[in-house]
Amino acid sequence: MIHFDQEQGIFHLNNNRISYIIGVLTNGHLGHFYFGKKLYGPLKQEMFRTPQNKGLTSNVFDGNPSFSLNNERLEYPIYGTTDFRDPAFDLENAGGSHIYDFKYKLHEIIQGKNKISLPASYADDDEAETLIVYLQDESGLELMLSYTIFTDLDIITRHTLITNEGDESHYIQKLMSASLDLKDSDYQMVQFSGDWIKERHQYTTPLRPGIQSVYSNRGASSSNHHPSLILKRKKTCETKGEAIGMTLMYSGNHLIQCEVDSNNITRIMGGISPHHFKWSLEPKESFQTPEMIMTYTDNGLEYLSHTLHDFVRKHVVAKKWQNVLRPIVLNNWEATYFDFTEEKIVELAREASQLGVEMFVLDDGWFGNRNSDQTGLGDWFVNMEKLPNGIKGLSKRIHDLDMKFGLWIEPEMINKNTKLYDVHPDWLIGDPTRKISHGRNQYVLDFSRKEVIDHIFDQLTKVLDDAHVDYIKWDMNKNITEAYSRGLSKNKQGELFHRYILGVYDLYERLTKRYPNIMIESCASGGGRFDYAMMYYAPQGWTSDNTDGVERLKIQHATSMFFPLVTMASHVSDVPNHQVGRMTSLKMRGDVANFGTFGYELDVTKLNEADKAAIKEQIKTFTSLRDLIHKGDFYRLLSPFDGDGNNTGWQVVSKSGHQSFVTWYQVLSRPNEPVKYFKLRGLDEKSLYRVTGMEEPVSGSLLMHQGIMIEPSFNGVEMKPYALGDFQSRTYFIEKVYD
Ligand code: GLA
Repeated sequence: MIHFDQEQGIFHLNNNRISYIIGVLTNGHLGHFYFGKKLYGPLKQEMFRTPQNKGLTSNVFDGNPSFSLNNERLEYPIYGTTDFRDPAFDLENAGGSHIYDFKYKLHEIIQGKNKISLPASYADDDEAETLIVYLQDESGLELMLSYTIFTDLDIITRHTLITNEGDESHYIQKLMSASLDLKDSDYQMVQFSGDWIKERHQYTTPLRPGIQSVYSNRGASSSNHHPSLILKRKKTCETKGEAIGMTLMYSGNHLIQCEVDSNNITRIMGGISPHHFKWSLEPKESFQTPEMIMTYTDNGLEYLSHTLHDFVRKHVVAKKWQNVLRPIVLNNWEATYFDFTEEKIVELAREASQLGVEMFVLDDGWFGNRNSDQTGLGDWFVNMEKLPNGIKGLSKRIHDLDMKFGLWIEPEMINKNTKLYDVHPDWLIGDPTRKISHGRNQYVLDFSRKEVIDHIFDQLTKVLDDAHVDYIKWDMNKNITEAYSRGLSKNKQGELFHRYILGVYDLYERLTKRYPNIMIESCASGGGRFDYAMMYYAPQGWTSDNTDGVERLKIQHATSMFFPLVTMASHVSDVPNHQVGRMTSLKMRGDVANFGTFGYELDVTKLNEADKAAIKEQIKTFTSLRDLIHKGDFYRLLSPFDGDGNNTGWQVVSKSGHQSFVTWYQVLSRPNEPVKYFKLRGLDEKSLYRVTGMEEPVSGSLLMHQGIMIEPSFNGVEMKPYALGDFQSRTYFIEKVYD
């Protein structure tokens, strides 16, 4: 899959569908030549390097008047030495100089993937091949660029390691995971941005000269800008056209940017955000960047997502959880908030178990003096007033109901009014000589300090060793603004953000090692840290605190661009909805939650008999669909981001192609609507399928090319009983009859 043509100085990474091509330029730097549909040889440097003599705008070196890096397409560009664009790295030596010159030294090609010291994707030796290129500067610094290409999936992953083989120290001020210069700028950038309770909305804008970026400087990958983006051609849609997708496997500060230069070259790069980042690299030390996951397709966004979904399920989520169907959950947060007793919890769980729920998750409020958000975080011992039998006693009572038991924790945080703060006031992040802000009355613990993690780990193990816990919901509800550590010396303060995330990964490592059978769900005020690195430890994430059926359409739709449904926690909650006050039907809320892990977040003891019966039915339905939803291919048929956003359509097709499940959603009911035709995808044209509501089997071609007829709710005489008013959804089960 990886071929080096020594004569041409060309590395060609390819599988059956894609090619990624790098060249060693005459000055020893690496050029980016190509990322796209598979190319066949012969390949020569002049096919990719367009001569661009820019006269007075180019700087050149003596002896080589026609060679300027500013006019080249580069693979890991440096600022200065003739390139004026934003560089992939920025280093400073002891004398204050930022001028370096990394040249190709050697390379190796290995089967499978090389291991890195951060959460990263993994592959067996027959699933991938890796190219490692070593570049060297005369200071003794060595850059190692790693590229892995996967056999069955159109994925290239990249990361960078820098090692100081010299005898002087250097500062790293920027070290991107990946950078590539695409040959034109005829792209639209699709980004996934938002906020708390409106995570990952999809925005599409054309590229223009200059820099466009998504970033986070909050200490978390954030709900504001997801660490991923797609470059697509203007005409690329779900089913056709070119697109490149990139996502950074990292949970901290990030930057992904596109720069269009005056040669119409698009430089796309991503990695740890250089903001507030300064890392000292002493002799013999190395620094490892996170991994960038990249995919190319000319088959549209649906293919791009299918590739990424399979990648997450096979190469990101820990092997242990790959094929584990997610349990149906009742979470007590919106049912009780902080106000509960053991009896109330058991009452909720008992009712839930009668409805068919499989796991009870005890949310915030079980520890320390946590009766409000003013106190408790950092005191990870059971609140015996609320739970006189401890988590041990409660978890036993829940298991006696034949349910699994899950527990909420927020290990990275501290409230001031706690025992932990009394003893360790210096453990929170912030400059003690300045004002330190809080969020929801809480502060961030300094996870760059090992003793802090040790202490939290010890407290948690005392609870977890003692009880029967099947699942943890790991929350994180405050971002870092006053980034200052009392545990780091003054020349290391620029390392805090990254060291903090390394500390978070350290605690994840320790907990997942000690409790290999506990499944973790990551959460950060909902989907504020929903990234591939989290998925590596926690195979699912709380997609958003917003559980409104309408709002979730946008959130889940755009999240599905990079994440499979099995990673997206989705619950049915009460009405009026606690985030937007909207009243939607139980049916629609269930039909939206179906496309995820499924569960409930409401007081089930207060339901009327009709709702109880409906919930039992929903659970039965989801249970029968679960394998299909969690393992099948997801199709975005109608987008809530298109037009007026009134209709959304989602479909899952099993890998075998035998079953499919489809839902059509309508936000507002409109008068005298014309009949609509809802076209499906992913079926076999000639096969016959049995479809809910249709008497006779119909062909896949009819379902895909003509579509399912959506009659208006009101036909002038009577209102259709299944389609009353606003917030409607209609579901269809589809089964192949015979070929
Ligand atoms: C965050 C989470 C919620 C809930 C609360 C508890 O907001 O996203 O699901 O756990 O914290 O405080």
